[in-house]
Amino acid sequence: MIQERVAKNSTMENSELPMTYFRHNGIIFCSPLHTAEQLEWLKDFNIDPHIPVIVTYPKSGTTWMQQVMSLILCNDNDSKKEMNLYERAPWMEIVRFTSETTDYQMLTTHLRYQMVPNCVKNKMFKIIYVTRNPKDVIVSSYHFHKYSRFLEKPKDFQDFLKKFIEGNVFYGSWFEHIREWYSHKDELNILFVAYEDMKTDLRSVVQKVASFLNKKLDEETLKSILNQCTIKHMQENPKTNYKSVPELFDFESGSFYRKGITGDWKNHFFVSQNEWFDSIYQEKMGDFPLKFDDM
Ligand code: A3P
Repeated sequence: MIQERVAKNSTMENSELPMTYFRHNGIIFCSPLHTAEQLEWLKDFNIDPHIPVIVTYPKSGTTWMQQVMSLILCNDNDSKKEMNLYERAPWMEIVRFTSETTDYQMLTTHLRYQMVPNCVKNKMFKIIYVTRNPKDVIVSSYHFHKYSRFLEKPKDFQDFLKKFIEGNVFYGSWFEHIREWYSHKDELNILFVAYEDMKTDLRSVVQKVASFLNKKLDEETLKSILNQCTIKHMQENPKTNYKSVPELFDFESGSFYRKGITGDWKNHFFVSQNEWFDSIYQEKMGDFPLKFDDM
């Protein structure tokens, strides 16, 4: 059991963020990003049904989808692009999001179905759920923990893998997250999009998302959106690269836009770790209808 704990991070200079994990509804969250009060408040928060919601398990391609949707929604030509991406598509469960926050195009969440605002649990809201091969999620998350100031530094990959499989990581179990959302799909207006499909054919994914959002894109706009959604562009763009929040990330220790590829798990998993993960996966997800490329 992870109890409240405070980690000391010697790399922190100006911003001494206390890193505290806590459980809420059995799921690990971390202050200062989250509070139990915020998570409770959110349940009755009312969202305008015209606001689409992105749902992801962390490290599944959230930021990429935020950029895609933001550019579709503003038709690639409005002042929204001057705002940081995390303000155009704020995480609703993070403390800086309040009822006074209004200037956004969409909302983002990593929350499980049971914890999102009750108002979104119907077909009036458009929800986009981004999936990613869990082995690549694990690798991406492992590196993310190394440079995020608010997360516990992993001891090593094996230790992190074990915690991930047990659901003892922030936002809890990947297995339960995707299963739970998928099990409610018929009650919702939800589009599942695979990170792997974004990698192989982003053009088709952008068109599919635009159509889901009832937006028409001409060829010029589509090309411009594709250009602004490359990993290189997003890494260099100050509005998408998170460099404006050094209090959250130590970019000396890693990069938000790390590799942006599929199959990087093969460079991290030992054969025995892969066999272990496969057996757990089979047990928990053997009957799951969504399949992942390159497992
Ligand atoms: P890697 O760590 O494997 O490189 P999230 O936004 O949910 O935190 O996910 C982050 C992951 O998405 C990172 O994966 C990051 O590189 C990848 N990503 C973000 N933007 C991307 C893009 N434009 N193209 C490809 N991958 C992207």
